Amino acid sequence: MAKQRELPDWEQLYQEKEVESMPWFNPELDPELDQALTRLELHQGAVLDLGTGPGTQAIALAERGFQVTATDLSATAIRKAESRAKAKGLDIAFKQDNILNSQLDQDFDFAWDRGCFHVFPPEQRQDYVQVVARLIKPDGYLFLKCFSYLQPGEEGPYRFTGEEIQEIFNRHFQVCSVIETVYQGTLDPLPRALFCILQRQ
Ligand SMILES: C[S@@+](CC[C@H](N)C(=O)[O-])C[C@H]1O[C@@H](n2cnc3c(N)ncnc32)[C@H](O)[C@@H]1O
Repeated sequence: MAKQRELPDWEQLYQEKEVESMPWFNPELDPELDQALTRLELHQGAVLDLGTGPGTQAIALAERGFQVTATDLSATAIRKAESRAKAKGLDIAFKQDNILNSQLDQDFDFAWDRGCFHVFPPEQRQDYVQVVARLIKPDGYLFLKCFSYLQPGEEGPYRFTGEEIQEIFNRHFQVCSVIETVYQGTLDPLPRALFCILQRQ
């Protein structure tokens, strides 16, 4: 069984550190998401960037014309991301929200999770799946980036195989694809990651 991970106190982290120094900071839209949106011809609609952190992904999606809602557990992350978006003149709905017990009452054409799901221990994963399934329209997508089982060591988030993703999500989602890639950010080398496309059933 995977060892329980030690993960940060998110609010304290965002209070104490500049977002640019965080390992996941990437000012560009994630390249696999970019390719998937092109391939699936998704160019408009309501999208949720859950666990938005620095807000870079929400901002990149808003710049492409999506109507973006961006949420995070940390109120400070939300405040910092909101001011970054405002400086660019973008209209994004930022909300402090715990995805495991989300208060959102809207549904979305797709949700993007870059690095949030993989922080949850096994006993919280079905809560996550149920909430996210509720927030996505039928046939809508969940794009998920998480650490891969190929990432060595036991530091930081949990690691997953494609089979585990299938097992965890199959009650509410069809797993369309899982590819091996890396997690762009400030670490060298970049951590090994999975990029998964799941479709709401
Ligand atoms: C690895 S960071 C990724 C941030 C962002 N998605 C990015 O790619 O830059 C994970 C984020 O998930 C947030 N998070 C952790 N638990 C959460 C929860 N229960 N609900 C919402 N957000 C959560 C953290 O505050 C953190 O910002």
